[in-house]
Amino acid sequence: MTLAAPADWWRDAVIYQVYPRSFADGNGDGMGDIAGLRARLPYIHALGVDAIWINPWYPSPMADAGYDVADYRDVAPVFGSLAEAEALIAEAHALELRVLLDIVPNHTSTEHPWFKAALDAGPGSPARQRYIFRTGRGDGSEPPNDWQSVFGGSAWTRITEADGRAGEWYLHLFDVGQPDLNWDQPEVHAEFMSVLRFWFDRGVDGFRIDVANALFKDPDLPDLAGSELQPPAGDGSVEHPFWDRDVVHDVYREWRGVADQYTPPRVFVAEAWVDGPERLARYVRRGQLHSAFNFDFLRTPWRSPLLRQGIDQVLAALRGVDAEPTWVLSNHDVVRHVTRLGLPQRETIPRRPEGVAADAEPDLDLGTRRARAATLLMLSLPGGAYLYQGEELGLWEVLDLPERMLQDPTWVRSGKKQRGRDGARVPMPWSADGPSLGFGPSDGSPPWLPQPAAWAGMSVAAQTGVPGSMLEFYRGALAIRRNHPGLGSGPLRWREAPDGVLAFERDHGFLCMVNVDGQPIGLPPGASVLYASGPLTQGGLPRDTAAWVQV
Ligand code: GLC
Repeated sequence: MTLAAPADWWRDAVIYQVYPRSFADGNGDGMGDIAGLRARLPYIHALGVDAIWINPWYPSPMADAGYDVADYRDVAPVFGSLAEAEALIAEAHALELRVLLDIVPNHTSTEHPWFKAALDAGPGSPARQRYIFRTGRGDGSEPPNDWQSVFGGSAWTRITEADGRAGEWYLHLFDVGQPDLNWDQPEVHAEFMSVLRFWFDRGVDGFRIDVANALFKDPDLPDLAGSELQPPAGDGSVEHPFWDRDVVHDVYREWRGVADQYTPPRVFVAEAWVDGPERLARYVRRGQLHSAFNFDFLRTPWRSPLLRQGIDQVLAALRGVDAEPTWVLSNHDVVRHVTRLGLPQRETIPRRPEGVAADAEPDLDLGTRRARAATLLMLSLPGGAYLYQGEELGLWEVLDLPERMLQDPTWVRSGKKQRGRDGARVPMPWSADGPSLGFGPSDGSPPWLPQPAAWAGMSVAAQTGVPGSMLEFYRGALAIRRNHPGLGSGPLRWREAPDGVLAFERDHGFLCMVNVDGQPIGLPPGASVLYASGPLTQGGLPRDTAAWVQV
């Protein structure tokens, strides 16, 4: 069943990210699964979102939590089966929730049949040309160039040829288990269009595109020689050898063609950590993708001038191509924002998301106050927004996971210097008691990562019906967003405001005021408060607090 809906539903949708291994465990093996997700769909529906995005659930050796795909047309047994996936899609649609999956086009798993064939077929074979194989430097024992993996260490691994001798090297910008595909091969294009159709034919409403900006590599494979892992010129006049190369847009024109053949048309959102809004806007030009995460917002410290500047820049860049921004505060790759916002804030925007030291001491009360204010800011900006599971509970980054339990390849590949992203991936607490706080059945295996004991009080059960809880706060905010005609798509007009305060109007008399880092400020005379992220005081709106106001 497909959902009858306005064709441009995605322009201002709120989409809930389900990280399946950590959402809900239906079969008690300690790992979340489709059965768990199906049972919790009513919860997601009641939150008041429009769609879910599910991180990869495909068969995978799980070298990178499923971003190493061995078969793009099936479901990993640990998550369930294709039949269960189809049932989930139907059930979500019955609740008017659309379903986006995650497609991983930059690399496969080393367990993918193509990579196995490439190993068997030998140097120079067509099977090897689907990937990026090269002979090493010198006597062949040095990697072909100096590129580093995003997770640390060389981006090249040497293989053993069928005759037992040390052989060619293959490129992997991520883990050694994630060989990069060669997008100069037409066969790679055809395969991914076929994968899109496979899932679209099963009712999937769209895809989030993993590292959408990495597909093409300079065929000369030049050394980076220490230059930053970002395009050296933000205007694109000098191309980086693998990030954000212009040719990548040809792929998205092809994909848009596939999506538009469906009724209703299917949609895409790009994960593209690019250098600024102008580069981001290129992905959502006419005839390409529908949306792209605005990660600049997520990276911006809690500083009013930086927030305002970032909002203006992305609005201007995207309006120039008639696209809407897509706001996001957290996902499975970054430090949860309650923790981020509870740390000392920088004066500049970091170029990449920052990790957090295991011995950092975030002020979680402060982080939570700011998180609530940031949520009202995000949900009243023009465009769409993504929520990451657990943010509606106010979950924080778990900084003290035992080292032996860490699974993010970053941990090992960084020589155990960076703990990686597991702290944002700890399983959801559903009930205030039981061995896994309701993540799995009470007689099931422990969750794949341990939950902090304090999460009993953060659980869905503990917050449901409790006025002022983060969960009820999200539900209330999403309900207003759905019903207020000024919210979602449409214009934004800034209002004069004292230093440290952001104030903007939307149509139909809607005003959002965020006191980021200013003095307490009064609300406009005659205004009625629709919603606030925290208590208002005599002086009005205190620091680290936001209010939605009807004027
Ligand atoms: C994206 C994913 C991340 C993954 C990487 C490699 O950034 O969000 O989780 O590790 O791509 O596929």
